Amino acid sequence: NRYVVIMAGGKGERFWPQSRLKRPKQLLPIVGEKPLLTQTVDRLTDLVPPENILIVTNEEQKAAVIDVCPMLPEANIIGEPVGRDTAAAVGLSMVLVKQRDPEGVFAMLPADHVIHDDEGFKKIVAASFEAAEKDSVLVTIGIRPDNPATGYGYIHRGDVWAEIDGRTVYHVKEFKEKPDAATAQSYLDSGEYYWNAGMFIWSVAAISAAFAEFTPGLNGALEKIDDALTAGQPLADVLNEQYPSLEKISIDYAVMENARNVVTMESAFDWDDVGEWPAVARHFDPDGEGNVVKGHGMVHGGGGNIVISPEGHLTAIVGVDDLIVVRTDDATLICPKSKAQDIKHLVKKLADHP
Ligand code: GDD
Ligand code: MG
Repeated sequence: NRYVVIMAGGKGERFWPQSRLKRPKQLLPIVGEKPLLTQTVDRLTDLVPPENILIVTNEEQKAAVIDVCPMLPEANIIGEPVGRDTAAAVGLSMVLVKQRDPEGVFAMLPADHVIHDDEGFKKIVAASFEAAEKDSVLVTIGIRPDNPATGYGYIHRGDVWAEIDGRTVYHVKEFKEKPDAATAQSYLDSGEYYWNAGMFIWSVAAISAAFAEFTPGLNGALEKIDDALTAGQPLADVLNEQYPSLEKISIDYAVMENARNVVTMESAFDWDDVGEWPAVARHFDPDGEGNVVKGHGMVHGGGGNIVISPEGHLTAIVGVDDLIVVRTDDATLICPKSKAQDIKHLVKKLADHP
């Protein structure tokens, strides 16, 4: 059977002050009417039945996740007692799918990306399921890069592996997580690289073989979780016992950089990881001066600004350019667009105002 597990444990620090510890990016309608996580689930429900869609989030956000995903059985929303990064989240997902169907295939998808072309997305995921059913491969979805971004993993495309559903799937020569700027530029210039969309599709058998080979420590702990669940112990107890000591590493560094059976499916849908405030502006119509205003805001005599203000509170700026101004009920952010990546550093200092 086919399953989807959505990874929804991110902290979303870069969207302060709208995002907070208990209300990270995936729980906000950053783009669109509904929270990004709700949009992600809606995009999937006619690809796999709702009972086969799971969400792995953290215990603190679990109630809020259940709230925005009423279409899923509550038991499918799993809270990690502590965040141990994505390798642990993938490992737990592998065990949960294996418990349901040891022959199963599953897609690991991020909770918080913006995709407008739902149909295009579904076709690519369906073709990726076929690829994962055909052979013991780790399928990643590749995006054609248009700038030397350093916040993504890069996939070096090799020879053709297979044609599936009229789409070409390539072997991956090398997977490189988050290169430095010069390396990213050389990747872009070569024309042989894709961005990793952070979407992975594989069988229980293929990913569990990779865990056994590349992360034996983590794999041992996952086997204990699997055995305890098989013995009938409650999931929450098992996680409380095992999770805190799991190795903290991302799936990209732990597995994807090392595995040799990685293949990539070139995507044909629009994709945006919307990593920070300036990225949000791409999804809205700017005025003649390039200002994006959401809610009750106004700009006079300035260009390139982003102004977000709740209805009922007018935020107005005059004669300034390229600023991000975000007002919420209890906080206001003012930051030049060029410094947006520093917002997460501010948030680390805000322990008193989470
Ligand atoms: N359950 C759980 N637990 N989920 C987590 C955890 C965790 O500890 N940490 C992160 N996540 C979730 C995030 O909410 C997000 O949906 C997804 O896993 C990916 O984590 P990010 O923190 O957003 O990763 P990234 O953006 O730095 O990098 C990944 O995504 C890029 C594309 O957006 C990598 O896979 C890159 O290679 C890729 O290019
Ligand atoms: Mg991300």
